[in-house]
Amino acid sequence: MPCPALPDGFDLTDPDLLHHRVPLPEFAELRRTEPVRRIPQPHGLAGFADTGYWAVTRHADVKYVSTHPELFSSSLNTAIIRFNEHIERDAIDAQRLILLNMDPPEHTRVRQIVQRGFTPRSIRALEDRLRARAEAIVAAARAGSGPFDFVTEVACELPLQAIAELIGVPQEDRSKIFDWSNRMIAYDDPEYAITQEVGARSAAEIIAYAMNMAAERKRCPAHDIVTTLVAAEDEGNLNSDEFGFFVLMLAVAGNETTRNAITHGMHAFLTHPDQWDLFKRERPSTTAEEIVRWATPVNAFQRTAAQDTELGGVPIRKGDRVGLFYASANHDPEVFTDPDAFDITRDPNPHLGFGGGGPHYCLGKSLAVLEIDLIFGAIADAMPGLRLAGNPRRLRSAWINGVKELRVVAG
Ligand code: HEM
Repeated sequence: MPCPALPDGFDLTDPDLLHHRVPLPEFAELRRTEPVRRIPQPHGLAGFADTGYWAVTRHADVKYVSTHPELFSSSLNTAIIRFNEHIERDAIDAQRLILLNMDPPEHTRVRQIVQRGFTPRSIRALEDRLRARAEAIVAAARAGSGPFDFVTEVACELPLQAIAELIGVPQEDRSKIFDWSNRMIAYDDPEYAITQEVGARSAAEIIAYAMNMAAERKRCPAHDIVTTLVAAEDEGNLNSDEFGFFVLMLAVAGNETTRNAITHGMHAFLTHPDQWDLFKRERPSTTAEEIVRWATPVNAFQRTAAQDTELGGVPIRKGDRVGLFYASANHDPEVFTDPDAFDITRDPNPHLGFGGGGPHYCLGKSLAVLEIDLIFGAIADAMPGLRLAGNPRRLRSAWINGVKELRVVAG
């Protein structure tokens, strides 16, 4: 049955929609009346424009698609097609080299390699250094007088520093990675005046930078993750191209997402003072998961049907695009009690903010959870009386649920 409250041209990937708010009422309407809805002429997410897509909004269906890669392929792009299209590199099929866009068995091979950099041990090894960094970031923000922008001064910093720590980017090069990754993600927002070509060039620059790093470690191995991933030229390691694209992925996947989780989390705390008080008193270990559910930094990814199939009783044809709306799944009342409440003690919390649990499930989840715990711990210690000094300014983007600016005052 068509969804009566939503007009014909309604499109969940319209960047103007996310620019102003997360479309929670529309999600609720779709989940209730048309949980797999055809959007014939979208104007948002790249890759959908030519073909239209199916908007999938229920938790169970998003999970089903994510856990059936044989039916729903990632290989015709999941999210970052616009950069790929513009990277002119003759010898390389760029899409194939991005982990998010691979299917098994290729995905399984590469994932097994890159996972070595994300073992619980390697993340734990970062903890003390990241705690010190979180404290330093908060102290620097605290030192200024008057209102400041929480996004640039706090939320952006730790994710960037964490990735740089993880892959061993020298201190002096960190801002390069930061600028490149910002430019790649922000092209839908006119305030940044970034063209697709600039985004693509930034992607190419990150890749070249990382490939240089890989080549250097091959010449001169060190005790770090880059060496672990690239040192030996055999099937059990990444070649320089693969490493370049992996770093490109990390720069986007690890930066923008965690930054927005932290910013939305701060905003949620400051607009739910009971939860902020609870956090300051008890620091529940369930906090970071609830922030990611509540914030859902990645609004949607897509898949392509690999064969004729069906979803929620709706026939899907081979080649059809399917949009997985994590932000909707995370507010599905079939799964979450009182889904629109921000409750940092929520447990269990089977949210899909890190993906629907299939082979592409977020590789950096433990690192992201650690970063969120550390930064809010540092803020609660050093700025317990932080206050809002303005409304969040949202990013105009089709797939990142982002905040550009959040003015706050220390206290
Ligand atoms: C994949 C979200 C932080 C690295 C994903 C996916 C989502 C996601 C939704 C896709 C899952 C799927 O298709 O099933 C998030 C959120 C984060 C976060 C919300 C922060 C709050 C990070 C961090 C890193 C990272 C810190 C690394 C430093 C990756 C990688 C993949 C991925 C490499 C691709 C995995 C694959 O294709 O096998 N993430 N992520 N993410 N994420 Fe994250």
